[in-house]
Amino acid sequence: MAIRQILEVPDPRLKVVSEPVTQFDDELRALVDDMFETMYDAPGIGLAAIQVGVPKRLLVIDLQPDDPDAEPEPCDHDGHHHHHQPTKKEPRVFVNPEILEPAEELATYSEGCLSVPEIYADVDRPARCRVRWQDLDGQFQEEEMEGLMATCIQHEMDHLEGILFIDHLSRLKRQMALKKLDKLRKAA
Ligand code: NI
Repeated sequence: MAIRQILEVPDPRLKVVSEPVTQFDDELRALVDDMFETMYDAPGIGLAAIQVGVPKRLLVIDLQPDDPDAEPEPCDHDGHHHHHQPTKKEPRVFVNPEILEPAEELATYSEGCLSVPEIYADVDRPARCRVRWQDLDGQFQEEEMEGLMATCIQHEMDHLEGILFIDHLSRLKRQMALKKLDKLRKAA
């Protein structure tokens, strides 16, 4: 296992549309292991393969990082970060995920992204969605998702289309977010 470098805006690779996974082999498992290690180290609750420079339709998610100092990637809709108690890891892998039925009802979460560090903004997305994906053996799985899981998987699936959460903001808000990121980088 190895921690890989996470691409950050404005890296053009983050705009690439990822390709379907066709080989369910040891190479894929090794990539998934690296993605989990990279995500837990960051720390974050979700990571798409393109964020480590691999344009494959592959996501890892764990809403329960067990690092007591970890902050969830998107925080709750009230805009406050919640201090998580140490909890059991719940790693989930989604290969070639598809959204079958997005709910019309929207939910708003303050989202963040490891590729847009230190920036948080409210994004509206379908509150629930039915998702189909393949597991690491290539078997199809289906599940109705809601709450943070629904938001997180939609955020990660956007990465597969080359879309970042800041692309959902107005132009003005996006420019403000990128300016803030620039300032933070210069201060660092
Ligand atoms: Ni992200």
